[in-house]
Amino acid sequence: MNIDLSTTVAEVSLENCIYNASGPLCTTAEHLHAIGESQAGAILTKSATLELREGNPQPRYYENDLGSINSMGLPNKGYAYYASLVAEMQKHAKPYFVSVSGLSLENNLTILKHLNTVKEVSAIELNLSCPNVPGKPQTGYDFEQMQRVLDKVCALEGHPLGVKLPPYFDIIHFHQVADILNKYPIQFVTCVNSIGNGLVIDVDAEQVVIKPKHGFGGVGGDYIKPTALANVRKFFVLLRDDIDVIGCGGIKNGRDAFEHILCGASAVQIGTQYMREGTGCFERIANELVALMQEKGYQSITDFKGKLKSID
Ligand code: DHB
Repeated sequence: MNIDLSTTVAEVSLENCIYNASGPLCTTAEHLHAIGESQAGAILTKSATLELREGNPQPRYYENDLGSINSMGLPNKGYAYYASLVAEMQKHAKPYFVSVSGLSLENNLTILKHLNTVKEVSAIELNLSCPNVPGKPQTGYDFEQMQRVLDKVCALEGHPLGVKLPPYFDIIHFHQVADILNKYPIQFVTCVNSIGNGLVIDVDAEQVVIKPKHGFGGVGGDYIKPTALANVRKFFVLLRDDIDVIGCGGIKNGRDAFEHILCGASAVQIGTQYMREGTGCFERIANELVALMQEKGYQSITDFKGKLKSID
């Protein structure tokens, strides 16, 4: 049986529904070309700000068997750099998504206005959930600010637009956020960013493991998979049918990818595991997902996407 992992995100076609999360190893042209040359279904950039940023002091990333904690502080080369790479990224013949995380609404508008003029950008993932810039709250947790941002960014004409959300933990919040998002012409949501402001401790040293913010940082990996799945599921159920949900959080093998798709994800992103394993993870996870689909007799992801069963 010919098993097909193709999908669409915001009506953009991907041959493989598995690609990188914005964050790890997607900051430089070299990183982005490596993703392009891999089996990843798309290339997604590090979240871009108006200007280049060096980010927070090191150490700012740490991982153990259960996952990762980071407080990178948005190190990136500035949006103009990611715009300037579009021509060379064409050779990979896969979508090129740009993540945007301006430090203010005005910055986001400046960035989006420019990116909307760059025709080879496939879509924009507007990050509403960076937990690591001191003094800048996560927009995704301030529902009034989120609406102010969406009012403005959705008034711009241009590329398909999606938002990267923080994880939510309360049923009422899922409904409040979905009610907001359903009012706007966004085309996808990515669920979830890291769980913000966790703390991982080295017991031997009796010390935190990353330097910024007294050790507080965004948590990813196995630690967050149930939360990620809950967010994918709730937004799949609550959002308009024309808003795709992209799953992110705790995916390190084909079974994890299957779970996200079963909850309703149209595509999945790999963060912590990509950081651990490098670009080989995209092919390995794809092969594992194909093997599982084969066992189950599924030919395409639409055969099981969103079809999670409840217990009667
Ligand atoms: C960073 C972390 C995030 O979770 C995010 O969404 C954007 C940026 C960072 O610290 O670089």
